[in-house]
Amino acid sequence: FGMSSDLIKEIRELKKERNAIILGHNYMDYGVQLVSDFTGDSYDLAVKAMKTDADVIVFAGVYFMAEQAAALNQNKTVLSPDPNAGCTLSDSLDVDTLSEFKKMYPDAPVVLYINTSIYTKALADYIVTSSTAVKVVSSLDSDVVLFGPDANLANFVEKKTGKKIIKVPPNGRCMVHASYTKQLMEVARRKYKGAVLMAHPESPLEILEASDFVGSTNQMIEFARKSESRDFIVATEIGMINALKLQVPEKTFYPLVTTEACGCARCPYMAMVTLKKIRDSLVENKHVVKVDLETAERAKRAFENTMKILG
Ligand code: 13P
Ligand code: SF4
Repeated sequence: FGMSSDLIKEIRELKKERNAIILGHNYMDYGVQLVSDFTGDSYDLAVKAMKTDADVIVFAGVYFMAEQAAALNQNKTVLSPDPNAGCTLSDSLDVDTLSEFKKMYPDAPVVLYINTSIYTKALADYIVTSSTAVKVVSSLDSDVVLFGPDANLANFVEKKTGKKIIKVPPNGRCMVHASYTKQLMEVARRKYKGAVLMAHPESPLEILEASDFVGSTNQMIEFARKSESRDFIVATEIGMINALKLQVPEKTFYPLVTTEACGCARCPYMAMVTLKKIRDSLVENKHVVKVDLETAERAKRAFENTMKILG
C-alpha cells in the first residue's frame, strides 16, 4: 500500500491547492474511495455536484457521470480522470435511435436512465437513476412511457408501476449485471447460508424476484446498515464491496461473483479510474469535460423535472 499512500497524500494536498473535491462512485477502488470527499450512487453524486462550492470537481466514476456533472455545473471545472471510461448501457443508445422512437410514440414521456450520453439526455423529459426510476415513472400521467437504455431496469419498472414501458433500444444491457443467472444465485445462497441477498435493478428480473432486497448502491448501504442481519450477498459490481466495508464495517459482505470466478465481476470501465489518473488530472488539469450550453440546458431541465417529482 506504500505507493498508494504516497499518492493519497499527494492527492489530498492537490485538492486543497486547487479548491477541488473528488466525487467517487460506490464502485471505485478502495484507495479512490479513501480520497473521495463524497462517495455515493449516481443520483446522490449528481446532486452533490450541484451543491458544492469547490472550483474543481474530479469525477471518479465513468464518463457519463462526469458529463452529467459538467452539464449541471457550467461555472465549474469538471475533470474526468479517464474519459475513455465508458459504459455498455450508454453506448447502446444513440440520438438517432431515440429520435425514431420519439416519432413512433409522440405522446409518450421520455424517461432516460442516467447511464446515457448527454446528447440523448437532451432529448429526454426525465433523467432517472436506479434509486428514482420507479417513483418517477409511477408519478407520470401517461400509461405509456418510453424508457431506456437498460432493458432489465425497464422490466423492473414495468412490474412495479403496471405501466406499458416501451424499451429504447429494445435490449440495452449492463455487461456486469446482465451476466447474473439464477444458477449463480443458488450457488451463492448455498455457500453463504442465511445471508441476505441484495440485488441491483440492472440485473435480470429472475434475479430481482428471487432476491431479498432490490436497490441502488446507496440504498444497499442504507438497507445493510439498518438490517438485523449480519451477512449479505451483494449482486452488483464488485467494487461495491469496498463501499460497504467502508460504510458498514460491522457487517460482512460477499460478492455474488468474484473476479476469479468471472471476468464480469468488475466493470472494466470503473476499473480504469485509478489514483494515479486522479493525481494526474489535478496536476495537469485534464480531462476537462465540456458540454455545449444548449445541450447542457436541455439535459439539466430533464434532471430538474425529476428533482421536482422527488421533492
Ligand atoms: P447506482 O450507483 O445509481 O445504483 O448505479 C450504478 C451504476 O449503474 C453505475 O454503473
Ligand atoms: Fe455501465 Fe454496467 Fe459498468 Fe455501470 S457497471 S458503468 S452500468 S457497464
